[in-house]
Amino acid sequence: DIKCTMAPESRFDCARDRLLSQEECEERGCCYAPLPNSTGPPWCFYPSLYPGYEMGPLTPSTRGQAATLTRATPSYLPKDVSSLQLEVIEETAGCLHLTLKDLSSPRYEVELPVGVPQSKGDSQEALYTTEFQSDPFGFIVRRKSNGRTIMNTTVAPLLFSDQYLQLSTALASSLVSGLGEHYTSLLLDLNWTSLTLWNGDVAPHADANLYGSHPFYIVQEEDGLAHGVFLLNSNAIEVMLQPTPALTWVALGGILDLYVFLGPDPQSVIRQYLQVIGYPMMPPYWSLGFHLCRWGYTTTNTTRQVAQRMHNANFPMDVQWNDLDYAKQRRVFTFDPWRFGDLPEMVEEFHKKGMKYILIQDPGISSTSPPGTYPPFDDGLKRDVFIKNATGHILIGKVWPGPTAFPDFTNPETRRWWEDCIRDFHSKVPVDGLWIDMNEPSSFVQGSVDGCPDSDLENPPYTPSVVGGQLNSKTLCMSAQQKVSTHYNLHNMYGLTEAYATHSALMKIRGKRPFVLSRSSYPSIGRFSGVWTGDVRSDWEQLRYSIPAVLQFSLFGVPLVGADICGFEGNTTEELCVRWMQLGAFYPFMRNHNDKPNAPQEPYIFGKKAQAAMRSALNLRYSLLPFLYTLFHHAHTSADTVARPLFMEFPADSNSQTIDRQFLWGSSLLISPVLEQGAVELAAYLPPGTWYSLHNGQPFYSKGQYLLLPAPLDTINVHVREGHIIPQQEPALTTTASRRNPFFLTVALSAGGWAWGDLFWDDGDSLDTFEMGNHCYIIFIAGQSQVVSDPLRLNGALDGLVLGGLQVFGVPSPPLYVLANGDKVRDFTYRSDTKVLTVTSLALPMSKVFTVQWL
Ligand code: GLC
Repeated sequence: DIKCTMAPESRFDCARDRLLSQEECEERGCCYAPLPNSTGPPWCFYPSLYPGYEMGPLTPSTRGQAATLTRATPSYLPKDVSSLQLEVIEETAGCLHLTLKDLSSPRYEVELPVGVPQSKGDSQEALYTTEFQSDPFGFIVRRKSNGRTIMNTTVAPLLFSDQYLQLSTALASSLVSGLGEHYTSLLLDLNWTSLTLWNGDVAPHADANLYGSHPFYIVQEEDGLAHGVFLLNSNAIEVMLQPTPALTWVALGGILDLYVFLGPDPQSVIRQYLQVIGYPMMPPYWSLGFHLCRWGYTTTNTTRQVAQRMHNANFPMDVQWNDLDYAKQRRVFTFDPWRFGDLPEMVEEFHKKGMKYILIQDPGISSTSPPGTYPPFDDGLKRDVFIKNATGHILIGKVWPGPTAFPDFTNPETRRWWEDCIRDFHSKVPVDGLWIDMNEPSSFVQGSVDGCPDSDLENPPYTPSVVGGQLNSKTLCMSAQQKVSTHYNLHNMYGLTEAYATHSALMKIRGKRPFVLSRSSYPSIGRFSGVWTGDVRSDWEQLRYSIPAVLQFSLFGVPLVGADICGFEGNTTEELCVRWMQLGAFYPFMRNHNDKPNAPQEPYIFGKKAQAAMRSALNLRYSLLPFLYTLFHHAHTSADTVARPLFMEFPADSNSQTIDRQFLWGSSLLISPVLEQGAVELAAYLPPGTWYSLHNGQPFYSKGQYLLLPAPLDTINVHVREGHIIPQQEPALTTTASRRNPFFLTVALSAGGWAWGDLFWDDGDSLDTFEMGNHCYIIFIAGQSQVVSDPLRLNGALDGLVLGGLQVFGVPSPPLYVLANGDKVRDFTYRSDTKVLTVTSLALPMSKVFTVQWL
């Protein structure tokens, strides 16, 4: 039959929902053609023009245009929806929005905590064109500038039933990233793979659904252009990838709500995505310092000693953490009277030392304390804040404290109760932030202590491959009831709703910028929280995969992200821990955290050489914090990325398109860590242009090539890109201290002798300093043998702070003089081998225009 002759890689699976015999396959009207392998192309697949929906005429709607889709005969799926409404909305020039809903009855739709901003529309001409095939229905989105097909859904049928929605599209290239959270390289494997998006308490490993769900992908179009697609749907999602290249979305509920972002460059794609889900929060300055945690700091005195030993050994560190150990019988909002009786005093001591303190806060509320002894549960009951089971009783699961109830954060009353609990606890223990864990939510029993009813929600007609086998494995019953909808629909948003409630509570209680760290995530979470990548193992492979993990969260609008440094599960080794501290010094969020049974991995427990290497990595990070903070400012205000894949900066460079063992900070720092045991050198890729070693200013003129770099145990290779100025500050043992130190600039001149950089500065933790103009913003310009500062905005935050010096990379010949604000400088050196000019002993006020010239 002519309709079944497509190439195997162009087949779209007609038996996704279950395995079919030839007879059953043909009963569906599909083609059956076995192949030698059972993995790879499907044997049962759709013929071309497989009957589906027929599209009526497009007519104007309130937001754009709308059409009715109807199907003459139902599909093979139970509870098929026979008529749909298509709406096509041109949100902006770069953002096309399409929705497909049930025409006859409303279905669950995602509502993000603060709402998707309404389209403003802009006057620019759209970057896309759309084309519709009416029978069977499909659509094509093209890039207007070059006619390239961005989406083409006519390649396979649209299916829309109550619990199975499916849409396929051809892809413009095989360079696809996103669709987290998974343990994968930055570029996804398109060789007949599938990815499940279902938040689970699953330690990172390949081919598994992990803690977060981000139904967003970005495609690099090979010539340097890029586009992205976001499916705003919070149900369980499976995405199939095949080498054509093509992709199929399957969602187990909700509606199809698709956003297409046309870029045209990768960074614009991310910005357009974040215009829909929200720009990331501005983190407090101290949260960019080093954090130290482990499960097993069993008393306040142990905890104090840890911080003290860090201090004594001269390791910069801002934040001491406690895991579950602090809580009485692992109940949140309590602290153990014997082991942590003086917790409030301990926190005050940390504060006096200019440090901060954070502890863990799981969502599960113990339900078995005698009535009247545990207010969070008693009040929660009274205020009706807990998730109910299908019969309207409070659903009880099991977490660390034993049986627990789960707050329903979609209920505004729950958010108020949560705030009251935090306020009460904070009045005793003035924590600086909260670590919200186990919020997939995780439970140690399936569904509830009483199991789950037998229903289509618990056992949908089709369940994608999830760890544990069922949607309710290690979490709540799908039929559990929340204010907004069933847990079946809301599961993937549990962590997001908790992060929102926690962020809002901290903001009100502390009146300062909140710090929240969440394990579970969903689009929008970057507005409220940072994320860590969960229970990674202490091994080299996990070290290596932490880079794509961090970079993916950058794409998802969560710039404040990191992995547990030195690994959480299993014992680390000294060498691994050194390399991990070096890489971790360049995670936007830097925390060393360890599991209870493991050998200690605090920096001070290692040998002298290892300690020295870790200290130097920490000092390097601390010296770069003004730069990192400025990058976060741009993430917050312009949706820039902080930890940045190379392809964002060099989209047309084919090597940069695939690299995920190296990454950038912003556009100007290239980080090339050692990721292999025993390695003391590494082949680092330098994209085209001049790169200077941050350590000694040694220049490399790269045509876009790999360079073998020495990387002894005490070294992480970092390069500065020509044309950039990096604002730095002398490091100290806390950011409280380092923020008062002299600044210095690293100026990396381009071939033409120019460079540019900037600094965002404020008090570091007041709310909305940018929004209220309560900040400083300075730009630095180098050219014609001088560096000039231009304070574009000042608010006093830089008063008393000085520029203590600078190093200029790429100065062609030795200067005779150096002048600072016109006066001759005494302390400067020039090295003819590296062409580095170093100027020290300056004291130029940062809040005034300054000029440093070399003649
Ligand atoms: C979970 C967290 C881990 C934490 C532990 C105990 O496994 O992912 O970071 O230490 O629970 O609270």
